[in-house]
Amino acid sequence: MTRTVLVVGGGGREHALVSALMKSPKTPRVICAPGNPGIAAQAEVRPIPLTDLDGLVALAAEVQADLVIIGPEAPLVAGLADRLRAAGIPTVGPSAAAAALEGSKAFSKEIMVAAGVPTAPSATVTDLDVGLFSADELGYPVAIKADGLAAGKGVVIARTKAEARVALEDCFVRERFGEAGRTVVIEAGLSGPEVSLLAVCDGTNVRRFPAARDYKPIGDANTGPNTGGMGSVSPIPDVPDDLADQLVDLVHRPVIAELARRGIPFVGVLYAGIMMTADGPMVLEFNTRFGDPETQAILPRLDEDLLDILDATANGTLSNDPVRVSPDACVAVVLAAAGYPDDPQLGDPLSGLTRANASGSLVFHAGTALDANGRLVTAGGRVLAVAATGSDSDAARLRAYATATQIRFRGRQMRTDIGEGLAPRGDD
Ligand code: AMP
Ligand code: GLY
Repeated sequence: MTRTVLVVGGGGREHALVSALMKSPKTPRVICAPGNPGIAAQAEVRPIPLTDLDGLVALAAEVQADLVIIGPEAPLVAGLADRLRAAGIPTVGPSAAAAALEGSKAFSKEIMVAAGVPTAPSATVTDLDVGLFSADELGYPVAIKADGLAAGKGVVIARTKAEARVALEDCFVRERFGEAGRTVVIEAGLSGPEVSLLAVCDGTNVRRFPAARDYKPIGDANTGPNTGGMGSVSPIPDVPDDLADQLVDLVHRPVIAELARRGIPFVGVLYAGIMMTADGPMVLEFNTRFGDPETQAILPRLDEDLLDILDATANGTLSNDPVRVSPDACVAVVLAAAGYPDDPQLGDPLSGLTRANASGSLVFHAGTALDANGRLVTAGGRVLAVAATGSDSDAARLRAYATATQIRFRGRQMRTDIGEGLAPRGDD
């Protein structure tokens, strides 16, 4: 019998998920809501907005979904997974209570401390004066983090008290993050390379994906403001498989156990953002979903049926083995709209897609739309991600950039250093 899978979301991550599911030997019927024009070329899309939880639950029932995969954080935090499970539909995505690991940095800190997971010393504050006092106590630099969801833009590194004051005033006075910034976590500043380590969890068991790296700042060499992510690469040589296994034992398993102890089983993807400091690994944040754009660099390496992995996640039958991937590297390069991240310009026509699609690289749509004349135009900050595999990250990055540079639109922003300098070198 044909299985029906519903993917909730409409970005590059969901395009990568849909593409991987379409490769399943079980040939499922794949539906995506709301989807995007790239996803629509591969699967059925239904234009239901992510805020319409009633509509999404009704769609899952209407199509008799055997499995629902929730991509973005907002519907998780709003309780979509709870609603689907209550309707008897197997779902990959944590309950609202478990998604608070991402939805509240203060809660996430509390769980990490209770679970004995290494993380920076911090203070949780709700006003300017206590915030400045805490920043002084922690010593500069400090990371100032809006408690709630801020699309990857809610963290500021303050090097001085004056910078801390601006960041805290943004939260408490100018209310730049609204409700999400009424509580703020101030954390001692750390340094070191970062790793994104994603794992599927069925409430008890944990299967990790290979380590990946996200490139958050808008500019080359990590300059400029943070974004949702300008590119990604997997594997990363400084986090080989044995270290990734140790990190899962150090981070994911204790967190899952602590949540279970509190009666909050975690069913979905637990994504740990970890900094490899001179004092050892420290967790910077949790996300409770697939990373975007990490997913675009991880799933093309998969050597297993994603549908099997996600079925086992939703149904409580996961093993504890890492997922199997090919030894190939994958690099994903994001093409962003002019003005992103502050003020993305929308509605500009894209060209070069036909050639890019024929190149053998994977072109994942994110912020694209069809205008009234049926032309593909920019419709979001991150417009596309181009991913390519190769025998090492240099080979993969050359292929990804060869395709990415063919795609044009006004004011296109693209980092030129995604995945650079990671391939093993023959001369040392
Ligand atoms: P987060 O959303 O908490 O992962 O933070 C976004 C980015 O801010 C991270 O990827 C880091 O680059 C940076 N960051 C977060 N916390 C710290 C910290 N304690 N020290 C230095 N940088 C940090
Ligand atoms: N790449 C960062 C995120 O998915 O939040």
